[in-house]
Amino acid sequence: MLIRLIYASRAKSLGPMDVKDILESSRRNNTAAGVTGALCLSNGVFLQCLEGDRVVVNALYHRILLDPRHDNPAILDFEEIIHRQFGAWSMGLVSTVADNQALFLKYSTGAQFDPYQMRPQALRAFFTELMGNTRWLA
Ligand SMILES: Cc1cc2nc3c(=O)[nH]c(=O)nc-3n(C[C@H](O)[C@H](O)[C@H](O)COP(=O)(O)O)c2cc1C
Repeated sequence: MLIRLIYASRAKSLGPMDVKDILESSRRNNTAAGVTGALCLSNGVFLQCLEGDRVVVNALYHRILLDPRHDNPAILDFEEIIHRQFGAWSMGLVSTVADNQALFLKYSTGAQFDPYQMRPQALRAFFTELMGNTRWLA
């Protein structure tokens, strides 16, 4: 069964190479596991969308939770999906450059991007728009 899990967490003691390292291992492992998705880092908060088989995504999420580079995880959305949104991305990284700020803020309740406050419907719309509208980091 195909599902999508969206969660947020707070980045913790991130070194300059950490995001690159996370992305590299994500791409390697997710490709092998048939997981796709996107990772945003903005305002010190990770927001990640994981798509794939329910059991596989669950196991991956629990492994990611053990990572010391973040804390305060919260599942924000978990649902069955008909098809993937990020089929072409084993893990896309969304940059926080100024170009994307308008999109982040469009979906924010306050002046800062705060996914913990976002409702599932807003999160889904946010990721849909991200797909078409964002400057992605390679
Ligand atoms: C916010 C965040 C998101 C991550 N996302 C993934 C992911 O999608 N897939 C993955 O394999 N590892 C992800 N990781 C990294 C894992 O926690 C772990 O370091 C990695 O899977 C280890 O892979 P390796 O044993 O192949 O080196 C993420 C880590 C963080 C902090």
